[in-house]
Amino acid sequence: MAEHAERVPAIPPIGVITEVQGPVVVIRCSPLPPLGRALYCRLAGSRCVLEVHQHLDCDRVRAIALQDTAGLSRGLRVYDQGGPLKVPVGKACLGRVLNLFGDPLDGQPPMVAEQWRALHGEPSLLASGGQGGQMLESGIKVIDLLCPFVRGGKTGLFGGAGVGKTVLVMEFMRAIAQIHRGVSVFAGVGERIREAHELWHELEDSGMRNRALMLFGQMDESPGVRFRVALTGITYAEYLRDELATEVLFVVDNVFRFVQAGSEISSLLGRMPATVGYQPTLSSEVAELEERIFSTPKGAITSVQAVYVPADDMSDPAVSTILSHLDSSVILSRQQASRGIYPAVDPLLSSSRMLDRHLLGDRHYRVAEGVREHLARYKELEDIISMLGIEELSPSDRRIVLRARRIQKYLTQPLWVTAPHTGIAGQSVALVDTIRDCDALLCGRYDEWDESRCYMRGALEEAS
Ligand SMILES: Nc1ncnc2c1ncn2[C@@H]1O[C@H](COP(=O)(O)OP(=O)(O)O)[C@@H](O)[C@H]1O
Ligand SMILES: [Mg+2]
Repeated sequence: MAEHAERVPAIPPIGVITEVQGPVVVIRCSPLPPLGRALYCRLAGSRCVLEVHQHLDCDRVRAIALQDTAGLSRGLRVYDQGGPLKVPVGKACLGRVLNLFGDPLDGQPPMVAEQWRALHGEPSLLASGGQGGQMLESGIKVIDLLCPFVRGGKTGLFGGAGVGKTVLVMEFMRAIAQIHRGVSVFAGVGERIREAHELWHELEDSGMRNRALMLFGQMDESPGVRFRVALTGITYAEYLRDELATEVLFVVDNVFRFVQAGSEISSLLGRMPATVGYQPTLSSEVAELEERIFSTPKGAITSVQAVYVPADDMSDPAVSTILSHLDSSVILSRQQASRGIYPAVDPLLSSSRMLDRHLLGDRHYRVAEGVREHLARYKELEDIISMLGIEELSPSDRRIVLRARRIQKYLTQPLWVTAPHTGIAGQSVALVDTIRDCDALLCGRYDEWDESRCYMRGALEEAS
């Protein structure tokens, strides 16, 4: 390795390290490299990549190491990579597990690069985003009916720990492969390492491996890695969209960890925290990532972002900042999960830009509104019911409650991803069937049914 490094043409260094503090490195150099520029140090034949984050004065910059910093020390020479960080892309990326740099994490040989692409894409024109108003079916009843995905848009999956964000994300990846014959890019950001292994095996077991690429920068990685790995993901997603001209799903699990990484970097850079302990650059950092995801002038990349909600508090500044960038938001609630309602979607808090009569058509819109109204009224009456019993309600309220309870059960669904644990085969339901069933439930066609018959199943029709 050392010999190989020697054979690299003798490019002069642009500076030397004067300070190392964890992953933050101060470099004296001239000329000053621009922000976002990738630099590197040679360490026993390998490279340690640094990214410029701050100009300190006329001849010093602060950079963040994107690798283990063991071996970095004062006096080490720093070289310029000549541009922002680039990753090797090629069709062979499908079926692989890679890191931030596109290097293998799956023990397979390195990827054969067809091209190198920069992580920081060209800034997009405002007009290039927001692919009109087509919905992308997920086969999940409650989502397609009440908070549909926008094709080429962004959906957030919000919830505290253990409410089912990762499970749902995996189910979407399956839907993209099965229903739309598309591919997925999964960027694992700052979550547990063990989970990464499990996800990979699940993908393999369900035969989706060759329709997905997984990238990880998990909890144990330095903040620089967790801050950037989502950009690697979108870079691959764009490549796949351009090359395969197919439906591409881009998943980030979890965007909250991206914010946390930014916060760690911010305090390492010596910035004072602003709102409730978050970095002063919170909104610009989230915007930078979200706008990068948005920059899809050539076609659709639909993104789904899992967002951890600290203390189940949706008003958390990081959570609300992320929320403001989305087309639809699926809110998962602990209360639903505790009642055995999976997916644990809160039907009243979740929403979508698509929920518009002109975009969805009359019938879908009317049925969705009817379902919401029934569920909202049921929620209002719940306290009265638990105190006085259902008999005390007026006949019309009693009927609403009866139907709302069936609809609530009907909107549960066994997923493919959980099938090995639950023993119930997964069900994917076409939107037309969901609308038809809900319409029938609202009209009272299933009033005679036992509630339990509506629970954890696919469409109603084939059983009747
Ligand atoms: N749709 C579901 N059906 C059945 N069980 C589920 C479902 N979603 C989540 N769970 C249960 O909750 C656990 C945690 O889900 P997970 O997706 O890992 O949560 P999160 O990513 O929100 O922390 C799963 O291991 C599973 O046992
Ligand atoms: Mg998770």
